[in-house]
Amino acid sequence: MAKGFYISKNMGLAGLLMGAVAGVVIIALAAVYDKEKTKNQNKPVDGVTTVSPTTSSTLSTPKNPWEYYRLPDSLSPVSYNITLWPRLVVNASTGLYIFTGQSDVVFRCEKETDLILIHCNKLNLTLLSGHRVRLTGLDGATAPNVISSWLQVKTEYLVIQLKGKLAAGKSYRLSTDFQGELADDLKGFYRSEYTEDGVKKVVATSQMQATFARKAFPCFDEPAMKAVFHVTLIHQRGTVALSNGRDVETVNTTIDGAEVTKTRFEPTKRMSTYLLAFIVSDFAHITGSIENNNVLVRIWARRKAIAEGHGYYALNVTGPMLQFYEGYYNASYPLSKSDQIALPDFSAGAMENWGLITYRETALLFNPASSSNGDKEWIATVISHELAHMWFGNLVTMKWWNDLWLNEGFASYVSYLGADSAEPTWNVTDLIVLKEVHGAMSVDALASSHPLSAKEEDIVRPAQISELFDTITYSKGAAVLRMLSDFLTEPVFARGLSTYLNTFQYSNTVYQDLWKHLQMAADSTPGLELPASVDDIMNRWILQMGFPVVTIDTATGSINQRHFLLDPDSVVDRPSPFNYEWIVPMKWIKNGNDQTPYWLQTETATHLPMKTSGSDWVLANTKVSGFFRVNYDSGNWDRLLTLLSTDHEAIPVINRAQIVDDAFNLARARTVNTTLALRTTLFLQREREYMPWQTANKNLGYFFLMFDRSDVYGPMQAYLNKQVTPLFNHFKTITADWTKIPEKHTDQYNQVNAISIACSTGVAGCEELTTGWFKDWMNTPENNMIHPNLRQTVYCSAIAAGGMEEWDFAWRMYKEASIASEADKLMYALACTRVPWLLNRYLNYCLDPEKIRKQDATFTIVYIAGNVVGQSLAWDFVRTNWDHLFNDYGGGSLSFARLIEGITRRFSSEFELKQLQQFIEENAEQGFGSATLAVDQALERTKANMKWVAENKKDILTWFTVNSA
Ligand SMILES: *[C@@H]1O[C@H](CO)[C@@H](O)[C@H](O)[C@H]1NC(C)=O
Ligand SMILES: *[C@@H]1O[C@H](CO)[C@@H](O)[C@H](O)[C@H]1NC(C)=O
Ligand SMILES: *[C@@H]1O[C@H](CO)[C@@H](O)[C@H](O)[C@H]1NC(C)=O
Ligand SMILES: *[C@@H]1O[C@H](CO)[C@@H](O)[C@H](O)[C@H]1NC(C)=O
Ligand SMILES: [Zn+2]
Repeated sequence: MAKGFYISKNMGLAGLLMGAVAGVVIIALAAVYDKEKTKNQNKPVDGVTTVSPTTSSTLSTPKNPWEYYRLPDSLSPVSYNITLWPRLVVNASTGLYIFTGQSDVVFRCEKETDLILIHCNKLNLTLLSGHRVRLTGLDGATAPNVISSWLQVKTEYLVIQLKGKLAAGKSYRLSTDFQGELADDLKGFYRSEYTEDGVKKVVATSQMQATFARKAFPCFDEPAMKAVFHVTLIHQRGTVALSNGRDVETVNTTIDGAEVTKTRFEPTKRMSTYLLAFIVSDFAHITGSIENNNVLVRIWARRKAIAEGHGYYALNVTGPMLQFYEGYYNASYPLSKSDQIALPDFSAGAMENWGLITYRETALLFNPASSSNGDKEWIATVISHELAHMWFGNLVTMKWWNDLWLNEGFASYVSYLGADSAEPTWNVTDLIVLKEVHGAMSVDALASSHPLSAKEEDIVRPAQISELFDTITYSKGAAVLRMLSDFLTEPVFARGLSTYLNTFQYSNTVYQDLWKHLQMAADSTPGLELPASVDDIMNRWILQMGFPVVTIDTATGSINQRHFLLDPDSVVDRPSPFNYEWIVPMKWIKNGNDQTPYWLQTETATHLPMKTSGSDWVLANTKVSGFFRVNYDSGNWDRLLTLLSTDHEAIPVINRAQIVDDAFNLARARTVNTTLALRTTLFLQREREYMPWQTANKNLGYFFLMFDRSDVYGPMQAYLNKQVTPLFNHFKTITADWTKIPEKHTDQYNQVNAISIACSTGVAGCEELTTGWFKDWMNTPENNMIHPNLRQTVYCSAIAAGGMEEWDFAWRMYKEASIASEADKLMYALACTRVPWLLNRYLNYCLDPEKIRKQDATFTIVYIAGNVVGQSLAWDFVRTNWDHLFNDYGGGSLSFARLIEGITRRFSSEFELKQLQQFIEENAEQGFGSATLAVDQALERTKANMKWVAENKKDILTWFTVNSA
């Protein structure tokens, strides 16, 4: 799955200053919380004889097999025949949208047993000759009679108790008929709705990851339970049905008086249930192919979006990216087709269903007339991420969810390589530092972080699985794999990957299998010397949480490492098998020249080449290829700062950003003075590049969160006004007075920074510019002349400066937007108003799916909380509506972890801490589901913020006052 949402586009300080926030790259599968309404609900029903299974109301062990969340190893599926019939109109008798289905699963008995456990959730099973199931023996085996069968609600099983035993080595067929709700809950087989030309349209679509295939049909719903799937979809005439394989037969027929079409698909390859997809819609498509290959490539979307050409960018990049991956993995694309489809309602960013990838509209559809370069980059990287999974994840799959980090971290890392192959001028392989590495560090520096790799036995319940879809899994996973690939070198990494994929195709692995293949590739590479095995080095990065700060003393050449904690007083109670020590690969430069890389393997060491004299300077972690922070003796810091203010280009651009990010974070951790961090922003007066500006922007964003309600605010604004004015004027010049757009991708990003920071700090001429553009648009709504790159910032600035008229206009444009990326920009900007009642009304819209889609509700609330005026309104709103948000919006639609993080980011006072604690107590009983960890992190952050503000406020006020003069 791709990250849920992406709002790092130019929204750091810029957004903050204007009133709304975003900043960090956001994650996630919208969190999934399944309320376990029923405990041990045994329903011994059907059948002539009903033997009530022993209900274990006591906590006695051993428990019954159906009380474990994991399947026993007695049965393994071979193939399924599934027929599903979604109804796209409301069922008259139930008042629900429903689907009906039949499924036959052929399974092999591995160990003799008289019990069948198969996942099944929220399905009503039809009785077949008195039983919920029909069991048939194959190849001469005799099927024992069914004594009873029932649905075990808590563990989501259909349990079948047999009179005799299934014989090891024999195969059987289990048949079921069932009916389920085609709900709008974004999970399993669900429905999405939209309006086209005034007509309401319904799409039946699916999201199976992680544990929702069982909501579509009874199945052995674990990733290692791979099987072949024969899928048939029955659908209304005139609609099109899609699934993982190519369609092989389409016939019109009549069933129960209904005129329908029946589409049968080629059998899939051996695959996991979480990668299945079933879609019925009246969508249109465009077609292409991979060069020199007869793989069919199609892009699907709403008819209008296709007619307006919004699918072409995706189509243009898909072929080349697939070709890139075929070369990179040295393995051809495993399937006969690649469909990609944009859905109006979708909880994550995208989902890598094998052969039928599903996307949010914003992650697939591109309109040159209204999409920004950030939208384009997002589309390219998400497509690249999903295509990478077609091999890594789908062809070879993790054995269990505890290794999710490998799947997602890997796809996140290589997505930058794939995107780079399609858009080589963008330099995205550097941007990964801002988008993944820095974001991962900010979470992983907390004592409440967690190791990348979890123990298999610790990840059991669906809520535990969904909690894994977080920043650590995606971004830290990407960062450490990037580090691994860097020290092995990319060709060695790719070679190991290729033998790994070929060895384990169509089956499952654990992360040690990848280490083994990378080790083999390393061993067969002359001249590649590692200080330890891949396993030894990497396990330190994945089995213990956190990362080190490496301190280099250039006066002596001594180096040490220690666990970096954002709050040095926080208590680390999680034990580490490596005592929080790492094997650190360190590339470094001295006076601008590359030096032999150094491996730090102990707590302290001395590396004499790092000893310097005179004006020599040392800079470690070049390209930020390692996942660690660097601190220096004050002499070296001073020399680096002097260099930045005299000849900043002597330091590579990534490392200019790194110096800023390291300094600010070291200051947060009280390792260096806050004024040292602030001094790293002085050179911005002369900086024109995006990465350093964006990093400073993000880090100063924290200062704004802490101080935008205090007397530090004024001098801070004045300082930034002074720093950004040359940048603003630079862009004014190179864009010929804002009439052109800069050539370079990152310059386009920095133009947005220039305008947003300038406008929000009151640089002369800025607000007039944005409000003028916005007024022009209000005068001719059908003709929006604001350049797509600038829209979000301009909308936000103008709405912040305006009132109800601007807001209502933007709301109307939001509802009428013909492409989701435009709607998203407006959705963000609407949170920028400073008028409290408008913000409150907007908050209430979040509970009305007709106004704000469920998939967008969390983000909207978080945007509002980012606005200094909206902060307390959003907090009150969430507390007041918690039960409703938690229970009714709790499905795949709302990421609670995101919500908690977003509404508590500013918390820095005793009063806010008390409120948070009270909120936690009040809701302790029902718990926080997949946001449990986020709640702990919010507490930890709030306490750290309080301390930080108390210790630093005075110095910061003085520094800004002096330096803004
Ligand atoms: C599944 O369907 C395929 C194709 O329709 C058929 O050949 C096969 O016999 C069926 N298998 C089972 C177990 O019903
Ligand atoms: C399943 O059965 C329950 C209980 O009879 C009923 O409330 C529910 O609406 C049914 N669901 C569907 C999709 O038919
Ligand atoms: C089935 O019916 C639809 C609509 O009535 C028609 O467009 C289509 O061509 C028919 N397909 C076949 C295979 O006959
Ligand atoms: C897709 O590629 C074609 C041919 O290179 C090009 O003309 C077109 O502008 C591209 N479309 C988009 C949206 O990138
Ligand atoms: Zn993914």
